[in-house]
Amino acid sequence: MKKFICLLASLLLSNSPVEADAEDTRTVIQLSPKHRAMVLTEMREFLRGLQQISEALSREDMDSVAGVARSLGTSMSQHMPAELKQALPQGFRKLGHSVHSHFDQIALDAESLADSGHALSQLAHTLSGCVSCHSMYQIRNE
Ligand code: HEC
Repeated sequence: MKKFICLLASLLLSNSPVEADAEDTRTVIQLSPKHRAMVLTEMREFLRGLQQISEALSREDMDSVAGVARSLGTSMSQHMPAELKQALPQGFRKLGHSVHSHFDQIALDAESLADSGHALSQLAHTLSGCVSCHSMYQIRNE
C-alpha cells in the first residue's frame, strides 16, 4: 500500500539521522530484569500488532483491524503489576496510555466507519507516539 509506505517513511525521516557512534542521551529508566522483559514483551506485541493491522488494511479487512487494534488498547496494560507502573516515570506512563487509547479509538472507528483511509491516518498519528517515546527513553536492568 503506497500511501502507507509514504506515511511510514515520512515518520521515520522526521527523526534526526542516527549516527552509529552517537552517544545515547535518552533518559535511562532502571528496571528489574523481570520488569524490563515485561515492557519489551509488550513492545514486541505492539510491533506484531502493527504488522497485522497493516496487512488487514491492505485487504480492507476492517473487522481484523478492529480486533487487533483493540488487543493493543488500554486493556493491554491492565495486567502490568502495580510496582512496575510505579517504577515508570510519569511522562512514560502518560505517553504509553495515550498510545493505548489511540488503539482503542482505531478499533471503535474501524467498527463504526469501516474507512481504511481514516484508520491509516489514525495509525500514522499513533505511530508518532511510538517514535517520540523511543526518542526520549531507554530501559536498563537495575
Ligand atoms: C511510553 C513509551 C513508549 C511507547 C509509547 C512505545 N515504546 Fe517501544 N520501547 C520503549 C522503550 C523505552 C524501549 C527500550 C529502548 C531501549 O532501551 O533502547 C522500547 C523498545 C521497543 C522495541 C524493542 C523490543 C525489544 O525486544 O528489544 C520495539 C519493537 C518497540 N519498542 C516497538 C514499539 C511500537 C511499535 C510502539 C507503538 C505502537 C511503541 N514501541 C511504543 C518505549 C515506548
